[in-house]
Order: sequence, then C-alpha cells, then structure tokens
Amino acid sequence: MAEMILLDIFRFDPENQNDGEKSERIQRYEVPMGKLGMKLLDALNHIKWHIDSTLTFRRSCGEGVCGSDGMNINGINGLGCITPIAGLAQPIRIYPLPNMPIIRDLVVDTTHFFDQYRQIKPWLRSDTPIPEHERLQTPEQREQLDGKYECILCACCTTSCPSWWWNGDRFLGPAALLQADRWISDSRDEATGERLDALEDSFKLYRCHQIMNCVQACPKELNPTAAINHIKRALITRKS
Ligand code: SF4
Ligand code: SF4
Ligand code: FES
Repeated sequence: MAEMILLDIFRFDPENQNDGEKSERIQRYEVPMGKLGMKLLDALNHIKWHIDSTLTFRRSCGEGVCGSDGMNINGINGLGCITPIAGLAQPIRIYPLPNMPIIRDLVVDTTHFFDQYRQIKPWLRSDTPIPEHERLQTPEQREQLDGKYECILCACCTTSCPSWWWNGDRFLGPAALLQADRWISDSRDEATGERLDALEDSFKLYRCHQIMNCVQACPKELNPTAAINHIKRALITRKS
C-alpha cells in the first residue's frame, strides 16, 4: 500500500460567510506519496484533480518562477511548487499567506501588495534619449542588480513581516523596498534623487526594525533587509 501524506488545509468559502463553521474550517486530506522529490504543489494538484475539485489555490509555472503559489506551510511562508514534501512534518498545515484578505481557501487578495509595488515606480526612468541599441552597463554596474532583479513578487517576505502586519497601510514592506533598491542601484536610471525623496518617510521605509523574517521567508534566497539598509545608507550619504 502506498505511503500516505496527511495535509490539514485551511478552507474558506465566501458564499457561506454568515455561517462561521461552514465558511472557515480546516479540512484533512490524505494523498499517496508519489514520485521521488514530490513537491507540496504536486500534493495539492492531486487533491484538486482526484479528491476535491473545490479546493482553490493559485499556481502557474510549477517551477518557482511566477510567484503565484505563496502560502503558509507549517508556519513558514513559501512556494508550494518548490517545497519538497519529504522535509515537512505531518500533518502538513497549509494556510493562506498571513495578513491578506482571503478570497477563497488559499487565494488571497494581493491588490494592496501590488499597489505598494506600483508606488515605487518599478520601471527605468531616464531623460536620456533612447539609444539606437541597448543602454550599456559595465559588468560591475550590472552586478549591482544581483540579489534584487531575481525577485518574483511572491509576497512571502512582506506577509511574514510583523512591521507590515501592524503598519501595512503605510510601511511599504520588504518586497516593494527591495524593488525600490533594485532601481536605485541601476546605473541607467536617472531618478535616484526622486526615488530617495519618495522613501524618506518615517513609515514607508523606517518602519523596518530589522526583524529579518523577510530573509527567512524568501524562497529565492534574497535579502530584503540588506536592500532596505542600502536605501537607508544612500539617504544618509546624500545628506553628508
Ligand atoms: S527586516 Fe524589516 S522588512 Fe524584513 S521582516 Fe523585519 S521589519 Fe520586516
Ligand atoms: S523578495 Fe523574495 S519573498 Fe519577497 S517577493 Fe521577492 S521573491 Fe518573494
Ligand atoms: S507555481 Fe509559479 S512559483 Fe510556484
């Protein structure tokens, strides 16, 4: 008989919102252990396709690239598609990303998260006329983007940040700030001064208290805390 995996999954049905018991509950599923190296997303897909088609979650690439299947797995945020089943204590407890409005089951409303991302103006801002070919960088200038451009906006960091839980209306959170630093660090961008002006605010940037949950949560092994410190240093340097 196949080895079974136990999963306790948070369910939320918006159509039964007035009936507390039915609208929010934990549902247990049993899934047969599959191929070697099976990932959590494989187990969720098995449930969806063979046991309970009502279970709702986002996913797309299945390869840790699209950032759509962020969830809370045994208390830590991560991506279902790159989390091996083998390393997880059972029953595996799966919840939606914390502190986001829940739409259904594991699907959260990311509107505010992406609004905050938009606030940092995540595009190249330059008055230099567009050259005939690409805008050149030296290898050293290009290296400044390493550890920043790889972000897939999965929200695992921001939703694990206590400062964002408490002040998420005004603190931009680690993902947006990492991306702000990505553009501040880009030698081709000519809006560094304006970008720093926009961040010089006791809430938007300075609510980061170096708790570093974001670093622990990032499935791409990025370091938003270091990026936030880099922005703070840039603000100090330009004053002195
Ligand atoms: S280091 Fe800053 S951004 Fe990261 S979790 Fe802590 S308070 Fe949040
Ligand atoms: S920094 Fe990491 S955890 Fe945060 S959004 Fe980007 S990839 Fe996800
Ligand atoms: S499904 Fe795309 S990152 Fe997991």
